[in-house]
Amino acid sequence: MIGAGVIGLAVALELSMRGANVRAFDSGNPGGAASWAGAGMLAPYLEEPPEALAGFLAHSLAMYATYARDVHAASGIDPELQLNGILRVARDEWEMERLRERSTRLAGAGVASTVLDSRATVELEPAIDPHISGGLLVHGEGYLDNRRLGRALRRACERAGVRVAEQTAVTRVEADERRVLGLQTSAGFVAATTVVNAMGAWASQLPGVPDDCVPSVFPVRGQMLALQAPKGLMRHATYTDDVYVVPRRDGRLLIGATTERAGFDARTTAEGIHGLLERGLRVAPALRGFTVSESWAGLRPATDDGLPAIGATTLEGYFLATGHYRNGILLVPATARLLADVIEGKPNAFAGTFALRQEANSLNV
Ligand code: FAD
Ligand code: GLY
Repeated sequence: MIGAGVIGLAVALELSMRGANVRAFDSGNPGGAASWAGAGMLAPYLEEPPEALAGFLAHSLAMYATYARDVHAASGIDPELQLNGILRVARDEWEMERLRERSTRLAGAGVASTVLDSRATVELEPAIDPHISGGLLVHGEGYLDNRRLGRALRRACERAGVRVAEQTAVTRVEADERRVLGLQTSAGFVAATTVVNAMGAWASQLPGVPDDCVPSVFPVRGQMLALQAPKGLMRHATYTDDVYVVPRRDGRLLIGATTERAGFDARTTAEGIHGLLERGLRVAPALRGFTVSESWAGLRPATDDGLPAIGATTLEGYFLATGHYRNGILLVPATARLLADVIEGKPNAFAGTFALRQEANSLNV
């Protein structure tokens, strides 16, 4: 496994539980990078994704309650899953009308949601500005603590026998004209018959594979910050078109996120953090007095067509699990099962759906 973010760790865990002998290499800290930086929302219905992806997102959400329980049991670390719905807030009547339309479309797809007037919205989340027009609570969505999930997956992997190497970069895939032979790493050569590229935003940067096996993945920076508030002050992940607030059990409120093409630059900027605070406090002015306890940025693995790359390639033994962009935390359970099924040649309803597509490579960000 190249890359031990939540995607690499989850695939490694699944393969190991199915009996494979798995090693995972990460050039940094396992569960770090985007997997650490994310907000942890489990929100298939938040945006309207490409049709091919919509069903996969919903399928992964449906797997999550069992998955989180199993990972908790296997690791002793609770990822603090909360499926109490995500609240969208409308700041004016035009946005409210869009939420009503969204509710109708969701009902058509069998997804329950409740349209709320401004009073009911503020009753649900008292920190929200009472001057908003209303909200929409989409039932069944939610969030977890993705940093805890990363730690839990690593511990579960190690308990299952996966050898996880941190600060160990894979520098090249070794292959003959037909198939994978192994990996060159900063700690030497490792022979392997099956290799998974789960390198997140770096997935297109790996030497040694044929051009038609390179996914068109590029980094999209997301900056975030956290406020330290009293425990329980907010209970729902709360979303508007330009900012969201996601609670943690310890009281922290995560405010995110920017969406920027900044190459591999994972710094926070004054402009980015200023904009998040301004937009966040406009929606929830009651947060004004809390301490800013942390700020950070991560690189989402984006693709040109908005679809992840999960599956086999033309190089025998070489597989991809990357390009999860804004939904990589949500897609952990479904990705792990899908790729393990593909590697084992087992049937899976999504097999082939996210196989590598030959688009122009997007390294010029
Ligand atoms: P990463 O976590 O980036 O892991 C890739 C790993 O590969 C890294 O650890 C890196 O060190 C390693 N690596 C790179 N190169 C090498 C190499 N040469 N050798 C060895 N290892 C290497 N998703 C959601 O579902 N819900 C959200 O609410 C959400 N919010 C987000 C908010 C922000 C601000 C950001 C940035 C992302 C958010 N996401 C969210 C997206 C989600 O975090 C990502 O899609 C997901 O974490 C991708 O996981 P990954 O394992 O593919 O990548
Ligand atoms: N899914 C939230 C984000 O990527 O910012």
